[in-house]
Amino acid sequence: MQIGFIGAGKVATTFGRYLHDRGLSISGYYDRHDEKAATASEVTQSQSYPRAAAVVADSDIILITTRDDQIAGACEDLCRQPGISTRHLVGHMSGAHSSRILDKAGQRGAALFSLHPLQAFADADKALADLPHTYFSLESTGERLQPVKDMLAQMGNRYFSISPEHKSLYHISACILSNYLVTLMASGLTTLAHSGIDPREGFQAMRPLIECTLSNIARLGPAKALTGPIARGDVGTVDHHLQALRTWGLEDIESLYRHLGLQTLELAHQSALSSPEKAAAVRQLLERT
Ligand SMILES: NC(=O)c1ccc[n+]([C@@H]2O[C@H](COP(=O)([O-])OP(=O)(O)OC[C@H]3O[C@@H](n4cnc5c(N)ncnc54)[C@H](OP(=O)(O)O)[C@@H]3O)[C@@H](O)[C@H]2O)c1
Repeated sequence: MQIGFIGAGKVATTFGRYLHDRGLSISGYYDRHDEKAATASEVTQSQSYPRAAAVVADSDIILITTRDDQIAGACEDLCRQPGISTRHLVGHMSGAHSSRILDKAGQRGAALFSLHPLQAFADADKALADLPHTYFSLESTGERLQPVKDMLAQMGNRYFSISPEHKSLYHISACILSNYLVTLMASGLTTLAHSGIDPREGFQAMRPLIECTLSNIARLGPAKALTGPIARGDVGTVDHHLQALRTWGLEDIESLYRHLGLQTLELAHQSALSSPEKAAAVRQLLERT
């Protein structure tokens, strides 16, 4: 089974290295920047192709690893030439799109899939080190996926299967859990900076609390991991927080606090953390502008 890549960027190069290290066979890379294909092929002991059609000729699994908004176009270009047939499995590695954006290859008989690694590839060496623990999602509209499942088995990674219609919700979830977590941390550190504490030191100070919370979520689930004034129905403290945010002119953080506070109240309700009367009083405060 030969695996070829169209687009030799961050993901294709690192993922290719990972596959190669695990004994899987990479046919090679095509990229519109020759030097990128050359680098990727060098680290995976594979070919650097001058044309996409050459990847098709030499590969059974073809991964289109361009940026998300380029995948459908790259697939269309590929299908304008003869080559793609029923022997091929054509996939991409985007979390945002389903394999339906590869329909043109499907019309030529290829089996379609998307295989999304739940990790960031900003730093190649870190990404390579993280890959053994990375969970993947495998989405497909059809059958004939055994070669991709065999590839995953040889990689040794865990994965779950999802349907095309669920792909957007899955990606929204990953964005909230990863990107918005960063935004949340940044908002917490902005608030801390207003109290005169250097954000770097502040983060180090808060880190055990953050890690303990993550570990509690993993162990108990979000509702049971919840602590703090909103969960307890501590009306006085919530009122005090809102006043302080207003005093310091942190309107954006105040509206974030209110919005997340209301969601937190819902979560607290699930584990009956405070009395309905206290919860109603906190809700009234959070909804009052
Ligand atoms: N980066 C991450 O952390 C991450 C994580 C999980 C999944 N993914 C997914 O992995 C995929 C690849 O992302 P990436 O970050 O590796 O992208 P990238 O570093 O931008 O690499 C894409 C490469 O493909 C080239 N390219 C674009 N259109 C092409 C075409 N028609 N033919 C040949 N080459 C073409 C690009 O050239 P130009 O630069 O000239 O466009 C670029 O060299 C995306 O679907 C992304 O959502 C990324």
